[in-house]
Amino acid sequence: MAALTDQNSAQAEGANVRQPVTGLSVTCMRCGSTFPGNRPFTVCPSCGGLLDADINLDQQLTPDAFAALIGTSEAFSGVWRFAQLLPPIPREHIVSRGEGNTPLYWDDRLAGYAGLTGGRFGIKHEGHNPTGSFKDRGMTVGVSHARAIGARALACASTGNTSASLASYAASAGLPALVIIPEGRISASKLSQTIAFGATVVQIDGDFDLALRLLRLLADTGAVYLANSVNPFRPEGQKTIVFEILEHFGWNVPDVIALPGGNLGNTAAFGKALSEAYQVGLIGTLPRIVTVQAAGAAPFAAYYESGFDHYAPVKAETIATAIKVGDPASVDRARRSIELTGGIVTTATDEELLDAKALIDRIGIGCEPASAASLAGIRKLVESGEIAPDATVVGVVTAHVLKDTDAIVAYHLNDGLDGNRRTFANRPLTIPAELDALQRVLDDAIHD
Ligand code: F0G
Repeated sequence: MAALTDQNSAQAEGANVRQPVTGLSVTCMRCGSTFPGNRPFTVCPSCGGLLDADINLDQQLTPDAFAALIGTSEAFSGVWRFAQLLPPIPREHIVSRGEGNTPLYWDDRLAGYAGLTGGRFGIKHEGHNPTGSFKDRGMTVGVSHARAIGARALACASTGNTSASLASYAASAGLPALVIIPEGRISASKLSQTIAFGATVVQIDGDFDLALRLLRLLADTGAVYLANSVNPFRPEGQKTIVFEILEHFGWNVPDVIALPGGNLGNTAAFGKALSEAYQVGLIGTLPRIVTVQAAGAAPFAAYYESGFDHYAPVKAETIATAIKVGDPASVDRARRSIELTGGIVTTATDEELLDAKALIDRIGIGCEPASAASLAGIRKLVESGEIAPDATVVGVVTAHVLKDTDAIVAYHLNDGLDGNRRTFANRPLTIPAELDALQRVLDDAIHD
């Protein structure tokens, strides 16, 4: 075990740590040093590399292992019911809002749109979490860890969903939360949630990347517990999206699991989940992870294209504000996930994202624009022949349709960039208040 550095001691002495917890540790993916997990962490105190929370992989598990928790308080949560593969945070510190246990929808119209003739496309809908996004799965672990180590204040930088989730979980725990957001660049719905849940909201004149850099400076002083996914405990909860997908397949695997990529915490979590499920004997093969970035915010896709030879941050620009990230914090961990699973990183333009989102909405499921990256990306990869048309694909839809209502109205009421009405546009009609007019509208609707 490497010695703790001054920076680490400073963190331990800061406002954050009051009580010891045992049994938790983290390991640096770059230098391999291991540290006790009883303090807030962002990066490796020795070398600055990204940290992983350690999980007991000396066990062999069968699916029955999880059934053992049925009837306990852990079973209430789609995260904590997989406790055997999570950091052993003492039960009395767990802050849960009953996250996870989200539905998996199958619909032939999605498969058809993706070009999966003979294949299947299912949506794992993370918008069904308490605050409407997958972040709640990570946040229950992050906030529980913060509570276990006696943190007194939590903070995150966010494009909106992390802030809404942190605000809610911190409020549940009775802890203050500080969020830093790029002013004018997050959706009103997410900002509203964050304000309503009582977080202190700080808006900066800058983008998400700047907000996160600023927050990391503050976290390094020990003043706050950093709840972004660079914190090794956050991705732990997000692993359970994969566990639920595997469970759905009877602990077999689909061919592909696709997801949007922004700050890349989820891509990191998915690879770790698959690796661990494999090592403890729950699965015998791995699905491919496909990460889809917005074309205007795609430094990881460019890195992948270079054969993971050259990484360069970008100035992010996309309508999908949730994934408007130009310098993702978890690049190295995400690369590991792609390499482990023979995965693919691709991009979708804003128009492709919006059309895919509009279809997901139109079939009654609904999601926010960034979430549709899974479907938009798979459609392109099937078209290019990189994914077989008979593949079984699970696309993770990361957030709820109500997360960005402005984007919905803009899509349906405005024409596309080419000046044409958008593919799935559904414009409200204005008619005289007369029965005839109403009947004509009904006729048109039925014959459409
Ligand atoms: N989808 C949604 C709806 C998101 O909010 C995010 C990230 C992602 C996908 C990308 O996930 O960062 O793990 O690659 N939102 C962050 C936030 C950045 O602050 O809410 P990732």
